[in-house]
Amino acid sequence: MRGPAKIKVLVVGGGGREHALAWKAAQSPRVARVYVAPGNAGSAAEERVENIAIDAGDIDSLADFAERREIGLTIVGPEAPLVAGIADAFAARKLACFGPGRDAARLEGSKSFAKEFLRRHGIPTAAHRSFTEAAAARAHLAERAYPAVVKADGLAGGKGVVVAARRRDAEDALDAMLGEKRFGEAGRRVVIEDFLEGEEASFICIAGGGEVLPLASSQDHKAAHDGDTGPNTGGMGAYSPAPLVDAAVHARIMDAVIRPALRGMERDGMQYTGFLYAGLMIGEDRVPRVLEFNCRLGDPEAQPLLLRMRSDLVAHCQAALRGELGAERAQWDARAALGVVLAADGYPGEARTGMPIDGPLHASEAEPPRKVFHAATAAGENGGALVAGGRVLCATACGDDVRAAARGAYQLAAQIDWRGRWYRGDIGHRAIAREEAAVTAAQPA
Ligand code: AMP
Ligand code: GLY
Repeated sequence: MRGPAKIKVLVVGGGGREHALAWKAAQSPRVARVYVAPGNAGSAAEERVENIAIDAGDIDSLADFAERREIGLTIVGPEAPLVAGIADAFAARKLACFGPGRDAARLEGSKSFAKEFLRRHGIPTAAHRSFTEAAAARAHLAERAYPAVVKADGLAGGKGVVVAARRRDAEDALDAMLGEKRFGEAGRRVVIEDFLEGEEASFICIAGGGEVLPLASSQDHKAAHDGDTGPNTGGMGAYSPAPLVDAAVHARIMDAVIRPALRGMERDGMQYTGFLYAGLMIGEDRVPRVLEFNCRLGDPEAQPLLLRMRSDLVAHCQAALRGELGAERAQWDARAALGVVLAADGYPGEARTGMPIDGPLHASEAEPPRKVFHAATAAGENGGALVAGGRVLCATACGDDVRAAARGAYQLAAQIDWRGRWYRGDIGHRAIAREEAAVTAAQPA
C-alpha cells in the first residue's frame, strides 16, 4: 500500500541548530529529501540531506528555490531571516513556511517591543526603561540600584546584553551601544532593566492557529567559562530536561507566560506560527519571569532537544501550519540529553578559523543516542571538515540522568581536536548538583 506522497523540506540556516533540524526532519516518514541553505559540513554528510549554496538572508532566492523544487515545508532556523520577513515572503507565494511573520518576530527583534508587549499583557518580567538619548540613559543610571542590566534593543547574536555590577560598568555598556555604536542599528535604542535573581531555563513551544505544543524543557549555559563566568556567548552547552522545571513550574510557565503571550499576539492583531522560545528566570518564589523571547529554537538547546525527541518534528510543524496542534503530542526519550559546544580559539571574540578538525567528526550512535552536530564547519579535504567560525561542533549524548548524559557528551568531545579548540568542563553542573541532592535526600539516615 502506498502512503501519501512524501514532501521535500527546506531548512534555512547553517549552524548547529540547523544541522539538528535537518537530521531530525530527514528521519520523518513524511519526508523524501531535506535541503539546507546553506548548511555546514555536518548536514552535507547526512543521508537524504543536501546543502544548497543560498545564504540564509537571501529571502528571494530561497523562495525561488522553494517554488522551483516544490518544497512542501520550510523550517527557518535563525532569527535574522524571520525578523527580515521570510515568513511573509513565503506566505505571499503560497509556500508553507514554519516561522512567525515580521510583525510577530519583533518579540525577538526588538527588546523594547518585547518589554512593552510583556507589560501590556501582564506577563511577569523585570521592570525596564528604554532610551535612545545617552544623556537621559545616564541620568537613569545615576539614580538606579545595582546590579542592572543594559541591553541593545536589536539583534546582537546573544552578545548585546551586559549585566553591570556597578554604575561604571553600566555606563561603559551604554557608551559602547549609544556612543560608539558597537552594535550598529541594534544598539540605537537600549533597554535598562532590573537584575533578576534565580536560575535560568529555556522553554520552547511550537505554536500555530492559536494553539500550542510545549517541547521538553531545557537549559543552556551562556557564559564562556566554567562556573558560568566570563563574557556572554551564544551558548556553550545545553541539556534537556531542566530539572528546575518540575510539573508545578511547567504549569506556571504555560499559564502565566506562554498562553498569555499567544493570546496577546492575537489581541494585538498578529498571528504567531513557529517556535516560541521563552528565556526565563525562575526565582526562589518559583515565579517564571521572562528574560527574553526568541522566535526560533535555541542553539545549542536544539541539539539535545532534538536528540531526545521521539515524535515526528515535521508532523508537528505541519499540524501547527494547519491549525491542528490541539491533537498533537510530542514524545521524548525518557532519558536526559546534554550537548557540549566545542569552540574555536578567540571565541566569543574573533575566532581563528581554517584549521582541519581531527577525530570522529560525524560520530552518530543510535543507542544510547549520541551525535556530533556541526555548527561553523566547512568542507575540508578528503571528506574532512575545517573550522569556519566560533562555535564549531556540539557533542551531544543521552544518558539515564544529566550526569550520565554529560559523561557521554564529554567522551565524544574529548575525541575531537584542532589547534586551539576548547570547551567548558562543567556543562550541566546545576542539574547534576540537583540530582546529587535528590539522591542524598532519598538515602536513609
Ligand atoms: P537575553 O539575551 O536578554 O536573554 O540576555 C542574555 C543573558 O543575560 C540571559 O540569559 C541572562 O543570563 C542575562 N540576563 C538578561 N536579563 C537579565 C536580568 N534582567 N536579570 C539577570 N540576568 C539577566
Ligand atoms: N542558546 C540561547 C539562544 O539560542 O538564544
